[in-house]
Amino acid sequence: MPKPFYITTPIYYVNARPHLGHAFTTIVADVACRFHAMRQTETFFLTGTDEHGDKVVRAAKEENLSPRTYVNKISKLFKNLWPDLSIKYDHFIRTTDKSHIAVVEQILQKIYDQGDIYFSEYEGLYCFGCERFYLERELVNSKCPDHETIPELIKESNYFFKMSSYQDWLIDHIKDNPGFIRPERYKNEVLSFLKEPLEDLCISRPKTRLKWGITLPFDNNYVTYVWFDALLNYISALGYPDGELFKNFWPSAQHLIAKDILKPHGIYWPIMLKAAGIPVYKHLNVHGYWNVDQSKMSKSIGNVVEPLQLTNIYGLDAFRFFLMREMVFGLDSSFSEEALIQRINADLANDLGNLFSRVLAMVHKYFSGVVPKIDAVVEQELQPGLEPDAIKAIADFEEAMESFAFHQALRTVWEFIGRMNKYIDITAPWVLAKKKSSIKQLEVVIYNLLEGLRVISGLIFPIMPDTAATMQKHLGMDPQKPFYYLDALKSWKTIAPGTNLPKSITLFPRIDLKKENLSSNKLSESRHGIPAIKPEISIDTFNKIDLRVATVIQAEALPRAKKLLKLEVDLGEKRTLVAGISAHYTPEELVGKQVIVAANLKPAKIMGILSNGMLLAAIDDFGCAVATMDKKVKPGTQLS
Ligand code: MSP
Repeated sequence: MPKPFYITTPIYYVNARPHLGHAFTTIVADVACRFHAMRQTETFFLTGTDEHGDKVVRAAKEENLSPRTYVNKISKLFKNLWPDLSIKYDHFIRTTDKSHIAVVEQILQKIYDQGDIYFSEYEGLYCFGCERFYLERELVNSKCPDHETIPELIKESNYFFKMSSYQDWLIDHIKDNPGFIRPERYKNEVLSFLKEPLEDLCISRPKTRLKWGITLPFDNNYVTYVWFDALLNYISALGYPDGELFKNFWPSAQHLIAKDILKPHGIYWPIMLKAAGIPVYKHLNVHGYWNVDQSKMSKSIGNVVEPLQLTNIYGLDAFRFFLMREMVFGLDSSFSEEALIQRINADLANDLGNLFSRVLAMVHKYFSGVVPKIDAVVEQELQPGLEPDAIKAIADFEEAMESFAFHQALRTVWEFIGRMNKYIDITAPWVLAKKKSSIKQLEVVIYNLLEGLRVISGLIFPIMPDTAATMQKHLGMDPQKPFYYLDALKSWKTIAPGTNLPKSITLFPRIDLKKENLSSNKLSESRHGIPAIKPEISIDTFNKIDLRVATVIQAEALPRAKKLLKLEVDLGEKRTLVAGISAHYTPEELVGKQVIVAANLKPAKIMGILSNGMLLAAIDDFGCAVATMDKKVKPGTQLS
């Protein structure tokens, strides 16, 4: 029996709705898990939400909700999304779960008792966005590299975890265990960070500043730093220390993250485990970012891509395929709907879809839809058929999947598809069908093609489970049975001759950009269906929004963000706004226009510019229209 397989995703912050970035990591975990199921390995897949800390308190405040009500609401959005993306996790952990809190308390107490946590005064640069202290050398132009804000100098007494005592151990562990952090570039990044002396980690926040967290078991005036709390989810979810799941799965733990959280996972976490006397994880698998218009997808930039809207338009399997085929694991990738459509048309509709319908059409045309019997002598004469290529494809696929090279695994499958198409060209079944004397050869050729399709359907199972099942059904297999086991895939001649096959279907319709008159921009907008009317509010609540007429004085595009315009407006006073409308309006079109602005909205920093108010606009399938007045009025006039 192969070793169990345990995979985790980061537990996502509940300060924002799930987007394509979160969906990607969680789909990767699902794909890896399904691949291990193909090997008949016992698997456990953990995901969940990270619910404590400053960020969450601030997000809850913005929605006028208590932190608890707020985290319940957003956590549910994540939990409910995953099944819609064919993601089958085994456990969804929340850091507000009682069982998790108990483990955090237990580990803190243990490390404190053994003297690895001490109390001290500290002055340092603190980024409230990241909820952590920064060293000067980590800043870019004196700013937090993630939030592009200047951290505040904070002086307070706190508890510190003696990470520095474990620095040499960690360096040796990384060097002695190839693949501990992979791909290699991220291992090197961590090692290069470890060349400098490691600072001890501040693991507490005074309750005077933050109450929403796990109280330190040894000091009631402090809560636990959110990362120290969050990382422990990976063991608390398994029932550490005595749970059967922990005993069974922890020894083979693999984490999956993007490069943004390499430091907590590559440095804090192994040291925490070591200090707590728990064996460290086996692999940390690190992927790059999905960027949109050269920027990382983020709520504050306003460039987030919503996964469900995409799957509604393009289909779930096509979406999963695109993500896995397009990104080279470890490197950044650019997301665009044009690229998605290209892949669907070329790889799915053309290569896979055509091959599938072509072969099934031939079974119906030449053998009335019945899987042909094959003659052993003729089969021998026509060697090699497709079997050696299929076996090689399975082996290459396995190797690539094992090392998280998903794009490579899919490339291997598509090379086999190419080989099958060549086989059709060389054997020319339509010529064989013309003469009675070559019918036995035709039978062998068609049978080989059906078997090739069976292998493909199994190999695409982790990435496109629904398509795999559809293909299997059309090949006369029982899709309820685990047809995708690698052992079964390797055994050639599985499809029973004499089986009646259903008529072919189109697996992936081509997307005709011209016919549907869709440019990529319009496509992104066409995702916005008509949403349901929001819950009723009172007139008092409505009156809290201060809507003003504003005249646009100046407008300019922002070079780093294709969709954004910076506007200077007059609404009785001068204001700067950032609006995501540059795909629809040139700066010149806007200057002089009277627009409507929500004037008392909390200012937000967008691409480093403080946007002091929000421009109202409507977006539908055909574009975007800014709200304006039908007569000129005095700038600053209030709407009521
Ligand atoms: N709560 C912490 C993680 C704690 S784990 C013990 C956190 N949460 S997060 O919501 O910010 O999620 C970050 C993760 O979301 C990334 O590491 C990655 O898995 C995923 N992604 C978010 N945006 C992404 C992209 N634009 N591209 C790729 N992955 C992205 O950090």
